[in-house]
Amino acid sequence: MKEFDAIPAFRMLGNLYFVGSYQQSSHIIDTGDGLIMIDVGGEENLPYVLAGFERLGFSLADVKYLLLSHWHWDHADGVPALRKLTDAKVLIGEPDAAWLKFPVDGVLRDGDKITLGNTTVTCLLTPGHTEGSLSFFFDVKDGEQTLRCGMFGGAGHRQLSKAFLDKYGIPYFMREEFFASIERLEKEHVDVLVGNHSWHNRTREGREILLQGGPNPFIDPAAWGIFLAALRKKMWKLIADESREQFLVLAHRGASEYCPGNTMLAFYAGVYMGAPGIETDVRRTKDGVLVLFHDATLEKAMGQPGSISDYTLEELKGFPMEKNGLRDRIPTLDEFLAAFGDMDLSFAIELKDADIETDVAEAIRRYGLEKKAVVTSFHLEYLQKMHTLAPELKLGYLARAGKITEEVLAQLKASGIDTLCPRVPDILPENTKDWHGHGFRVRAWGVTNEEDMRQVYDNGADGTTVNFPDKLLAYIQEQNAKNEEK
Ligand code: G3P
Ligand code: CA
Repeated sequence: MKEFDAIPAFRMLGNLYFVGSYQQSSHIIDTGDGLIMIDVGGEENLPYVLAGFERLGFSLADVKYLLLSHWHWDHADGVPALRKLTDAKVLIGEPDAAWLKFPVDGVLRDGDKITLGNTTVTCLLTPGHTEGSLSFFFDVKDGEQTLRCGMFGGAGHRQLSKAFLDKYGIPYFMREEFFASIERLEKEHVDVLVGNHSWHNRTREGREILLQGGPNPFIDPAAWGIFLAALRKKMWKLIADESREQFLVLAHRGASEYCPGNTMLAFYAGVYMGAPGIETDVRRTKDGVLVLFHDATLEKAMGQPGSISDYTLEELKGFPMEKNGLRDRIPTLDEFLAAFGDMDLSFAIELKDADIETDVAEAIRRYGLEKKAVVTSFHLEYLQKMHTLAPELKLGYLARAGKITEEVLAQLKASGIDTLCPRVPDILPENTKDWHGHGFRVRAWGVTNEEDMRQVYDNGADGTTVNFPDKLLAYIQEQNAKNEEK
């Protein structure tokens, strides 16, 4: 079992006590009519909690409520072992109950109050870190003063990284919830910041000061606001760092600057240049096969009249496409996925035709690309249909130039679309910040020259399609080298 750094249990102020370790916190409120415990930590933390009870002279049998700030193991996993020692009612924020590995005795909703003895704990639902993260507020009498204590039960921003959200299939909109929770909590007056982890309020150092007889360091009406402001700043830094460090270069129709677009040649060229992702366009042939082709008509690319739906696959395979002396033929979606699906790549698959959603979803599933592909479209209705029939797929809305209103953002969110694909001129720092604040990933389109490419990267987007991935990758490398020099 993992060993933690003990923090000997102590009285923080009034009837509020800390038990646990540096790594995992638990608090006890002695209400005069039984104990309320907030969090227990994981099973590894239990010995520290039990030692704390003993040191303080409390009995586990007196715990009437155990309130869990959220479901994560380092706050809640000690519950099954603790339950053998107490009959306390275990309660958690309603959306988090389903994530626990054990049942609870009840759920808490926004604004619920738990009253025991001289204490009422008000519970606010403050999602972000988890969907059901709770924050707790209660008064403590310390000498003649009544002081309001507050704990933000979802104060971790790292669990909102792209990697974490993608790994657990958590919606990106949790980021928006996190910002909204901080804003809501800033309206609360708090005299005593209670840490959901010991480093939130420097519990260990505070204890030392108390031992030395100094003024109680936990009583600090400024601490709450400073803590929340710092948290917001950290979250913005995480978003900005991620945009740069994980900027997604999607070879647009492959490396289509150099090869005929949407051909295997162009896709291989893009991958060979080092692009971590490929963008392509899907249409349906006369005989019902999904193929990769951009234009509405064949004239420009194949020198033929009509469009893709006027020809069978066999006929289309007879029309070569050329660029820069390079020649290739139209690929099917299946050929493309068979060749690239098991490579470590991301895919942006654009729906160009109506009524291909079912077959595209089936192909993505068949190649197990649910986590690696984003389905995009200029047509909101195609994406809405896709969301209904394949809710597990990631969707990106291609926006035409111009203001993307709050109403549009709300509509996208309601349609399960969490990637916004604006055109280059709209990729401005204030816009990317606004969209990120709403929880969207921002992936640009329409890069036509190197100035565009720099604008998109410099202004905080998370990625872009580009016909010349080699140039963008070189620019990113250059910027990284400059940053390392600083
Ligand atoms: O990056 C998206 C982009 O491909 C959309 O425009 O016309 O190239 O399909 P288009
Ligand atoms: Ca496209």
